[in-house]
Amino acid sequence: MSPVDARTVPVDPESEARLRASGFDYRVVDMDDDALAVSFARAAERGFLGSAPTDAEIVPMRETWRERRSIGVYEQDAASDALPVATVNSWVAPMSVPGGAVPMWSISMVTVAGTHRRRGIARNLLEGELRSAVAAGVPLAGLTVSEATIYGRYGFGSAVPVARIAIDTSRAGWRPAEVPGRVEYVEPVAVAREFQIVHERARLGRAGQVPGWPRRWMGLAGLGGDEEKKDASVRGVRYVDAGGEVRGAMAYSFKDAPASFRSILRVRHLEAETDDALRALWGFAVNHDLVDRVEADLRPVDDPIAHLVADQRAVELTVHDHGWLRVLDVPASLQARTYSAPADVVVRVDDSYGFADGTWRVRIDVSGAAAVEPVDAAPDVVLGVAELSAIYAGGVPLTQLSAAGRVQGTASAVHALSAAFRTDPAPTLGIWY
Ligand SMILES: CC(C)(COP(=O)(O)OP(=O)(O)OC[C@H]1O[C@@H](n2cnc3c(N)ncnc32)[C@H](O)[C@@H]1OP(=O)(O)O)[C@@H](O)C(=O)NCCC(=O)NCCS
Repeated sequence: MSPVDARTVPVDPESEARLRASGFDYRVVDMDDDALAVSFARAAERGFLGSAPTDAEIVPMRETWRERRSIGVYEQDAASDALPVATVNSWVAPMSVPGGAVPMWSISMVTVAGTHRRRGIARNLLEGELRSAVAAGVPLAGLTVSEATIYGRYGFGSAVPVARIAIDTSRAGWRPAEVPGRVEYVEPVAVAREFQIVHERARLGRAGQVPGWPRRWMGLAGLGGDEEKKDASVRGVRYVDAGGEVRGAMAYSFKDAPASFRSILRVRHLEAETDDALRALWGFAVNHDLVDRVEADLRPVDDPIAHLVADQRAVELTVHDHGWLRVLDVPASLQARTYSAPADVVVRVDDSYGFADGTWRVRIDVSGAAAVEPVDAAPDVVLGVAELSAIYAGGVPLTQLSAAGRVQGTASAVHALSAAFRTDPAPTLGIWY
């Protein structure tokens, strides 16, 4: 599959017509136009309850958005400098899957102004994105979400759960984990650079991941683009292996622990390419002087931290949803990844939008390769597109959805498909997009 540039994909004519009938213009925003770029940035930041972005902050936003298709919704009779009443942007990213990567229509910056909420504008944005992705031949869509109840109605499933981790350092007891390399302090700019480099080398090792981009790494390193607003409390370290190669990096900050002169170390981001790097960076955090508690989020659900300490009960690990996926093209999505076990199952997928709807024979051979074709046959398994999307990356077992009554089928077919889709290591997604 050749990569698709979302910027070349025109706006969806159906959403454009519907919004026009309601008095709105729905159009691509030219990020080279100063006024349009600034008003898009202000609307997007307002939508996410952020403070108005400064000129310095808008510079890296624009750089990022120039690589994406940004759409604004404007009142037809609004002044030329009016903020859009809704925003969205999208780009096609290679999402890692077992055996490689699949092109994913990544959706971000979904906001609707408080003055225009609950009039169906977001529905038009989302449906427009999905139809655009289908028109461009992109087999899968994905997003990270502010609320878990918004996107199921469009066929998205919670597919890449992650873990929030808290460690009581006074109780944990570090199990000495020898690592041949060293941890060293680095300036935030260098941490951002190491995140980018290490993530690029590591991301294909686990399903569910997408490439980061400079502004994302700078933000995690505490460098938001505005020197005056920069978060000076953020510090960084990296792990250098015995051969002198950087294999991991971590940005972190401190907050006061209540009623003590001690601190909580909050990991903003930890990127590790090797087990040694991961052990070294966790060890640095857990053994840090004056720290009672270490907190991290967006960690893999199978992060080994509980096995690096003597007392597992010192580690609280809370699994929560993060990466949401939406299968648009069943054969192309399913054939883009490899599987953990053979299977031969007829699957009925219900999709009220029609994109993934149909009855499909899924044959997985002993090498883990899949062949998927439409059939006219009685299904062994019946599920909705949100459920198919939820199991796609291998992080949610089909048996779990079946136990919840969200999937119907024979026990043998459900188990066979469940075993085939599971991935080890677990899929993960360490950033917001
Ligand atoms: C979430 C948001 C984009 C919704 O925009 P909106 O234009 O009010 O949504 P719509 O009117 O198109 O609603 C479409 C459907 O989603 C539902 N919905 C909207 N917001 C919802 C929310 N926050 N939680 C659950 N359901 C929601 C509506 O009830 C409606 O349901 P139905 O059509 O199935 O009956 C808007 O509230 C917003 O900008 N929120 C702040 C930023 C944000 O969280 N963005 C999402 C980023 S992932």
